[in-house]
Amino acid sequence: MDHRNMDDFATRVTFARAWNTHAPEGERICNDSLALAFLSPEHQAAATTSQGRQTLEASWNDLERSLIAYVAVRTRVMDMFFAQALGAGMEQIVILGAGFDSRGYRLVSGTDRITVFEVDQPHMQENKKAALSQALGELPEHVRYVPVDFAAHDLGRELAKAGYSSTAATACILEGVSFFLAPDLADRVFGFLARAGGAGSMAAFDYVSSRILDKTSQEPFADLFIQYLAAMGEPYRFGLAPESLATFAGEQGLTLSANRSALQWRDHYSEYGGARLNPPGFFHIAQTLRT
Ligand SMILES: C[S@@+](CC[C@H](N)C(=O)[O-])C[C@H]1O[C@@H](n2cnc3c(N)ncnc32)[C@H](O)[C@@H]1O
Repeated sequence: MDHRNMDDFATRVTFARAWNTHAPEGERICNDSLALAFLSPEHQAAATTSQGRQTLEASWNDLERSLIAYVAVRTRVMDMFFAQALGAGMEQIVILGAGFDSRGYRLVSGTDRITVFEVDQPHMQENKKAALSQALGELPEHVRYVPVDFAAHDLGRELAKAGYSSTAATACILEGVSFFLAPDLADRVFGFLARAGGAGSMAAFDYVSSRILDKTSQEPFADLFIQYLAAMGEPYRFGLAPESLATFAGEQGLTLSANRSALQWRDHYSEYGGARLNPPGFFHIAQTLRT
């Protein structure tokens, strides 16, 4: 996996969040007030000025429009899971492959007693901290940065060094990451997700249907999307069969509490601006609970 590609993807999804945050009412489904802080002045103008938006939108093909819509929908869904974790009194939130995820800064209030662990490659965290220091003045104490390469480090050990408790009620988020992992790495990361924290813990993640990988998906854009990623030098490597997830979760002692395609989530939020978005149906967002 090329780090420059991954950095580029992290910036692209942040741009998609900024784009939807500044979309007109009726199309706006997410609200990431910090997304602009991670973008260049050119990208900021492209997302916020009417001239920038018109020019860019006119240049997009349907697949690109659909991917932007997907990031907006998943931001809304993951924000909801994050807020649920806070409401449920979780003690820790672990964000794996955090990129420019801003939930630890915009959704946590002074009264929440929570530690947010952000896990990502060291250089990504340095870029993020520099941008946040400029935007916020200082970095909040409840966020801890855990530099980890999933392929090279023991995730549990590095988290423990940063103060993570393996028995506290924990919410884990894996967003925009699973599809890029080689299958053996995905096994390790999902293995951590399944066992993270103590009773009452929760995990939320998105994934692609394995049918787009074996080319049996009938979803619009499926083949085009695989070609698009391969051309960018970052082919998708890992998917799950949506219909097998409940059984798989049960085998790990987990309850599958949500498992919907991006289109179903879009419909779930249709009254909040989702109706005009058209994300690819092969993306899914799921949540598991441990009782
Ligand atoms: C597409 S970005 C998504 C970022 C963020 N979760 C979001 O949705 O905005 C993928 C992130 O996963 C991180 N990542 C990918 N492979 C990784 C690895 N082997 N170890 C640690 N982080 C990794 C990248 O650095 C990047 O920040």
